[in-house]
Amino acid sequence: MSFKVPRGTQDILPEQTPKWQKVESILRDLSRVYRYKEIRTPMFEQTELFQRGVGDTTDIVQKEMYTFEDRGGRSLTLRPEGTASAVRAYVEHKMFGAPDQPVKLSYIGPMFRYERQQAGRYRQFVQFGVEAIGSADPAIDAEVISLAMDVYHSVGLKDLQLHINSLGDKETRDAHRTALINHFKPSIGEFCSDCQNRLEKNPLRILDCKVDHEHPLMQTAPKLTDYLTEYSGTYFEKVKEYLDVLGIEYVVDPNLVRGLDYYNHTAFEIMSTASGFGAITTLCGGGRYNGLVEDIGGPDVPGIGFALSIERLLLALEAEGIQLDVEDSLDIYVVAIGDEAKKKSVELLSSFRTKGISADMDYIDRKMKAQMKSADRLGAKYVIVIGDSELEEAAVNIKEMQTGNQEKVPFVELVNYLLEHK
Ligand code: HAM
Repeated sequence: MSFKVPRGTQDILPEQTPKWQKVESILRDLSRVYRYKEIRTPMFEQTELFQRGVGDTTDIVQKEMYTFEDRGGRSLTLRPEGTASAVRAYVEHKMFGAPDQPVKLSYIGPMFRYERQQAGRYRQFVQFGVEAIGSADPAIDAEVISLAMDVYHSVGLKDLQLHINSLGDKETRDAHRTALINHFKPSIGEFCSDCQNRLEKNPLRILDCKVDHEHPLMQTAPKLTDYLTEYSGTYFEKVKEYLDVLGIEYVVDPNLVRGLDYYNHTAFEIMSTASGFGAITTLCGGGRYNGLVEDIGGPDVPGIGFALSIERLLLALEAEGIQLDVEDSLDIYVVAIGDEAKKKSVELLSSFRTKGISADMDYIDRKMKAQMKSADRLGAKYVIVIGDSELEEAAVNIKEMQTGNQEKVPFVELVNYLLEHK
């Protein structure tokens, strides 16, 4: 019997983790400078939270959730996204009462969706997201978008396109909804069964259908932007003005609707335009969700955020041929010949490591030549070889691998030597 990782998941192997750590550290750094404080919520929640939060008619809730009953008979769901949990925590811990609003949160962690596996689409993926809860200022919409763009710029990506749209407010959506129903109803028989179900429940989601997106009625469908109320129209204009101030380029995309129910006003996605990128080009998605806090049992407080997956960010890097500058250095490899030398090596290694010098040695009793090869393979910056004469002299030749230069250094001076030279 042989075991494999579950479909749609992956092992991140030691050769790949430095890339992940690098990206994670960039994300944490950006959260710090933009002042989005990290929140860690459980990986599962009451199922109802997502039904209410993400929305009953969405693909996520209808088809993609990992839902199970625990031994106490409660229905729980592995989180498919982070916004509902962040908002739940915001309400539960009464963060709306904090003196400084908006509350700006960030998170990094695995999310779970039972999706069809393909390039860039996993069943477990790691999302980084931010949520700014408690402000309906278009400047914060621009801040959130700017943070998302900064993530990609910070890793060196260039082939990016920002799509923005306004989904308007309730009045906008009601008027648009009626127009959509009138538009699709006469020919709804030509659409997939999901779209037929969506017609009355949530016709906006028809525009987001993965099956019928080529249908000619999609192109001629009434556009939300034609139904914007004065408030939402002005709001959208201001968001665009702030983006202009920040020098962020965007494309207004009236077909951008997003796949989750909580959105209104600003919606945005960042796409990769790199030629090698697969069919799924969306790197990041987000938007405003005024009303969600109330739906989840809190006061009427507005919010906006976005999330991106590290998996897709790494795919975009690959597509653009960008290598991240990752730290994986070995400062010194200690080769030991004989039992006494080995004791000395163990002692030296410990003294190096306590000073933050990365150090390694052989643990499978290999001959000197094999140990030297290992040092080379591991990319050690320095190598020392300890044998009887070195022990006698209490000093060793330290060799810089790249240049071949050697210098004799007493054991007691090695730490200082490395601290100066590494
Ligand atoms: P979402 O569009 O469902 O939005 O997902 C956001 C991002 O997560 C996507 O753009 C993509 O990078 C990544 N993603 C989603 N599904 C997968 C998958 N199966 N495999 C790999 N990556 C995936 C949300 O989740 C919202 N909570 C975003 C948000 C936060 N809106 C407001 N605040």
